[in-house]
Amino acid sequence: MNHLSAELTQVAAVAAKPPLLEVQNLVKYYPGRGVWPRPRPIKAVDDISFSIGYGETLGLVGESGCGKSTAAKTILRLIEPTAGRILLEGTDVASLSPTQFRPYRRDLQIVFQDPYASLNPRMRAAEIVAEPLRNFSRGKAVDPERVAELFERVGLDKAAMRKFPSEFSGGQRQRLGIARALALKPKLIVCDEPVSALDVSIQAQVINLLQDLQQDLGLSYLFVAHDLAVVRHISQRVAVMYLGRIVEIGPVGTLYTQPRHPYTKALLAAVPKIGAQGAREKTLLKGDIPSPAHPPSGCTFRTRCPMARPECGHSAPALQAQGEGHWAACHFIGAEAPTAGSALRAPADTAVAPSASAAP
Ligand SMILES: Nc1ncnc2c1ncn2[C@@H]1O[C@H](COP(=O)(O)OP(=O)(O)OP(=O)(O)O)[C@@H](O)[C@H]1O
Ligand code: SF4
Ligand SMILES: [Mg+2]
Repeated sequence: MNHLSAELTQVAAVAAKPPLLEVQNLVKYYPGRGVWPRPRPIKAVDDISFSIGYGETLGLVGESGCGKSTAAKTILRLIEPTAGRILLEGTDVASLSPTQFRPYRRDLQIVFQDPYASLNPRMRAAEIVAEPLRNFSRGKAVDPERVAELFERVGLDKAAMRKFPSEFSGGQRQRLGIARALALKPKLIVCDEPVSALDVSIQAQVINLLQDLQQDLGLSYLFVAHDLAVVRHISQRVAVMYLGRIVEIGPVGTLYTQPRHPYTKALLAAVPKIGAQGAREKTLLKGDIPSPAHPPSGCTFRTRCPMARPECGHSAPALQAQGEGHWAACHFIGAEAPTAGSALRAPADTAVAPSASAAP
């Protein structure tokens, strides 16, 4: 057992209650394409671990293709994991049969980037929101009051209930998607780029709605996005993914002001800053993200890292404690070993668990 695993065990022992969600060593490989040479699996998610506390938002960021959506959908078992554990209030839902998993599906819902693609265009809005209720009603009629209440909850008027998705604006469609996700009173909503397709002013309205709902209903969110400003606004903690792995995770304040991993620094440097004049050293990323079917050896970021040295190709860096709840995976930052019971300790009801084994 490495020092990080021992630390996690200690934290588990002292935690008042387990976090709402604990993802341990999650892996998702897609089958490789082609026949010759032997197709290599596409390592979309390659051993990630994190937790989400009750009422907490964890932001998940990274470039296109780094595995955010795969991770998000695998947690909901919309995609079957290749390996790893997904503990929902302590139960490993990844190990359950589809029938055993069904009751847990109520607790885990998703809001997609493109609500139009995820909503049946031939169904009226009221039917779209009622559908999950019907699926879990055991033959009983769905209470129309409950459907009306959900419309009101997301700021849609009653007249909207009779409309088809094509009759809504982008922001309204996203509200409809949120109402549907809320129908079964979930504990966690995975928001996969929920505002990326919306105008900035509409983005703010939807983000405010998500925050109000969180406050009123005690929801937890896994909030996936490209836009680091939006993620900063809504999240308490943020995880940064690169080529299927979490390279840095920590409280939003620390991660944005004192990023430790060269990749996080580069992502933040690329965010346009109003009025900022060289306040932070510019570290722009060169080249494209490599294929997850052929990830570089050792540290997979080494082909684009401005700090890379020859040794970076030898072994994959594990996540190392950088401070309270803050972890980064790089061989050459001032990593310090976590001290017993300190680095991983989370607020009473928002336990933190970064990667228990970032190494492959
Ligand atoms: N069904 C699939 N079969 C094979 N490869 C896939 C499949 N879905 C995704 N991938 C690959 O897995 C990797 C991760 O994809 P994923 O969609 O999870 O990334 P992402 O971070 O959500 O990207 P984006 O920001 O563009 O949404 C990519 O290389 C992608 O091409
Ligand atoms: S291990 Fe090397 S290549 Fe990887 S992030 Fe650190 S310095 Fe860069
Ligand atoms: Mg995606």
